[in-house]
Amino acid sequence: MSAAATNSNKERVFIFDTTLRDGEQSPGATMTLEEKLQVAETLDEMGVDIIEAGFPIASNGDFEAVVAVAKQVKKATVAGLARAITADIDRAGEAVRHARQGRIHTFVSTSPIHLAHQMKKTEDEVIEIIARTVAQARNLVDDVEWSAMDATRTPLEFLKRCVDTAIKAGATTINLPDTVGYAVPEEHFRMFKTIIESVPNGDKAIFSVHCHDDLGMAVANSLAGVAGGARQIECTINGLGERAGNAALEEVVMALRTRGDAMPFYTEIDSTQLSRASRVVSAASNFPVQYNKAIVGKNAFAHESGIHQDGMLKNAETYEIMTPASVGIKETTLVMGKHSGRAAFKDKLKELGYELGDNAFQEAFQRFKDLADRKKHVYDADIIALVDDEVGSV
Ligand code: KIV
Ligand code: ZN
Repeated sequence: MSAAATNSNKERVFIFDTTLRDGEQSPGATMTLEEKLQVAETLDEMGVDIIEAGFPIASNGDFEAVVAVAKQVKKATVAGLARAITADIDRAGEAVRHARQGRIHTFVSTSPIHLAHQMKKTEDEVIEIIARTVAQARNLVDDVEWSAMDATRTPLEFLKRCVDTAIKAGATTINLPDTVGYAVPEEHFRMFKTIIESVPNGDKAIFSVHCHDDLGMAVANSLAGVAGGARQIECTINGLGERAGNAALEEVVMALRTRGDAMPFYTEIDSTQLSRASRVVSAASNFPVQYNKAIVGKNAFAHESGIHQDGMLKNAETYEIMTPASVGIKETTLVMGKHSGRAAFKDKLKELGYELGDNAFQEAFQRFKDLADRKKHVYDADIIALVDDEVGSV
């Protein structure tokens, strides 16, 4: 069944990529303007709905990058981040006005710990700030996102007041970030469901999840937020981001695509471009991708154990829940090592152009196992050498 056919009974989830903003905040991940433009082009081609291009007030370089991305991007909405400060919002508005569709993304902290120690403001003062700054942004652009920084450590009653105020002031997207990666999925689900159902104009805005990975739950929490009513996921390629990173775009997209039976949602991302996007971002940010990274890691479609290789040779669905092609990887790799069995060895010999009789095969297999015990990687050249040796010695 094609993806389009299966999408007819599913709800759309918008993908907001913040690789160029939250991702770039990752220590050591700074990108040049050229690299940012290359990442933005990749995201746009892949079907990302909103590209957060930077934080225009942060520096002239950031401002110029947001302007350049806004001018280059052909399909996606381009967002610029702004604190709840007049000058920030004006600067973000100035940068995103070059986009076909520009968004100002403004935020303020809402949790007691941030109010007491970082902002030194009362709840009533925060409410006044939200009303004033969201209205200011809305005077500059039609598309305004408001974020409650540290939402997951904010009492629900106060969070409701904040969200209600932001919607009344004109916010079109409401983001409830798990800024410090503190939430657990069940609680995240309930936060979204409660807020969306209890805020008077909850249906007037799109709700958004933005999860950090401090406890390794950013993707699970993002999906729980969607189950609770969010229809925008904020994420980054390779999960790049502050501290332990953000929810990984490739993981949320493939989770929704692979488990549409359990979660009836879809995105407009062309998943066959995920692997390329991962390589582009890894090169631009100078952050290697871990070998066992879900979806895009070098080992994500590699099998070494004999039992798994045997199953894969009979039917790929035995040990793969999605095809490598669906994420832009050419093919599954059966890695030849000490865990490999006869079936994979025979298959490898065939690929290399050998057909051995029973005895020669048993001998070659034994020599291969001995070699694999001594060597971490057994390359095709090693196998050719040992078979040629074997055949030559007969
Ligand atoms: O994690 C966070 O709270 C943020 C906001 C600026 C949205 O990145
Ligand atoms: Zn963040």
